[in-house]
Amino acid sequence: MSGPVSGGWATGDDLVLVVDFGAQYAQLIARRVREARVYSEIVPHTITADEVRRRRPAGIVLSGGPSSVHVDGAPLLDPAIYDLGVPILGICYGSQLIAQQLGGEVSQTGRGEYGRTDLELQNGGGRLAGALPPQQVVWMSHFDAIVRVPDGFTVTARTADCPVAMLEAPERGIYGVQFHPEVAHTPHGQDLLTRFLVDACGCRQTWTMTNVIETAVERIRAQVGSGRAICGLSGGVDSAVAAALVHRAIGKQLTCVYVDTGLMRLGESDQVEDTFHRTFGIDLVHARAAERFFDRLAGVTDPEAKRKAIGELFIRVFEEARGGLTDADFLVQGTLYPDVIESGTSTAAKIKSHHNVGGLPEDLDFELVEPLRSLFKDEVRRIGTELGLPDEIVWRQPFPGPGLAVRIIGEVTPERVALLQRADAIVREEIHRAGLEREIWQAFAVLADIRSVGVMGDERTYGHPIIIRAVTSEDAMTADFARLPWELLERMAGRIIGEVPGINRVAYDVTSKPPGTIEWE
Ligand code: XMP
Repeated sequence: MSGPVSGGWATGDDLVLVVDFGAQYAQLIARRVREARVYSEIVPHTITADEVRRRRPAGIVLSGGPSSVHVDGAPLLDPAIYDLGVPILGICYGSQLIAQQLGGEVSQTGRGEYGRTDLELQNGGGRLAGALPPQQVVWMSHFDAIVRVPDGFTVTARTADCPVAMLEAPERGIYGVQFHPEVAHTPHGQDLLTRFLVDACGCRQTWTMTNVIETAVERIRAQVGSGRAICGLSGGVDSAVAAALVHRAIGKQLTCVYVDTGLMRLGESDQVEDTFHRTFGIDLVHARAAERFFDRLAGVTDPEAKRKAIGELFIRVFEEARGGLTDADFLVQGTLYPDVIESGTSTAAKIKSHHNVGGLPEDLDFELVEPLRSLFKDEVRRIGTELGLPDEIVWRQPFPGPGLAVRIIGEVTPERVALLQRADAIVREEIHRAGLEREIWQAFAVLADIRSVGVMGDERTYGHPIIIRAVTSEDAMTADFARLPWELLERMAGRIIGEVPGINRVAYDVTSKPPGTIEWE
């Protein structure tokens, strides 16, 4: 399902365009706009006034960016966009661009500002200030500064080192802020954005997950008609929510396929069966292929060879499972908006050959149904909860397509998988008990193929170590090892050694990414 041609997501939704000037901030701004219940989309800065007119946005936000308006080739905005009568808010670089392109002056004052800064409203704070306090803390990150505003603009806030921290020309509908209202360190930032959206742009706050579900259901019905669709379930949140949404739209016309590789975590396959088949009544093909995967993996120890073997067999099993579903024309995929803007794991993909359910080959002859294509992860989770999916699925950690195989160093055997499953379950249970689940990006156990000497009771042991890996991360591109409390690590280690036979030592991985990766293989 591709994006709309004009206006917002659904008929009746207003659309705000976030123009990306090369900063990671554009995605954050787009999410904040949606938190204000207004639909937003990210567009490149090369967008033309004609294209903007065609999209009929209610407002435009120009993001920050790493450039300076003074360098050659600095990214600009098509100047005709300023005259379209669509309200514009420039943030950081975006505000400097407004000043520069409309006849003001931006210069390098030699006094950049970084971090928390005190802001003082001027001239009553203007249209965006609303009920904001006259003095407040904002998050700054800039070197250049606006030193003269264009004709017709008023300065509405300043800081000690920045004479123009906010500017506006409300009759032209143009506003700029030097600080970053989208970050959490600007406590009143969300109020300011909402004020721009509601007061300056006149947006209606209709972007609620209930409305999103309703519209998605209508669209899926229109696309699939009386056809049949299939959906590969991985147990992860994206494919789960996509399946639940499509099921709400077309009920029995959907069949889900779950390939049980035998490499999933403890109890996971049962949970998929329970949730989708028993609770939702979704037609589910549970392809039990563990034995085939173990046969294929016998003697394979090289990480890439493992990934390749699993990826290929997965596709074969999936194809066979859908053998009985020859009349299916549609394939449901849980593609998210960040994947559409740019692949969030593009760096990782170069380092490891990633495999996931979404990675089915293109020559499968299906029309794609992608109901989450416009959504951010937090929105997908909210929709999952609203559709009645359990927390264990909605808040499930990312889990690699090749499963536990990339967390077993050396050969993958059923016995080693069973051992790792038990250790992994203990790690996750203890993280859950400590209430750290939503702070930690991933926490899991790794089984190494080395042995060490230990002593249990009066007996010498010669067993395998488990390595605990827990990381915090925003997007898996970079990650930091989690500073877990010692007591928690001690409890995990004690339980793993006491409850999992054959393990006599536990180590904690204190490597961040880079230089490490999150998974061990
Ligand atoms: P790395 O180990 O490259 O992992 O730092 C980054 C993120 O991607 C997950 N991962 C995968 N996800 N298929 C997937 O769908 C894969 O083949 C795969 N390999 C790694 C990993 O768990 C982490 O969240």
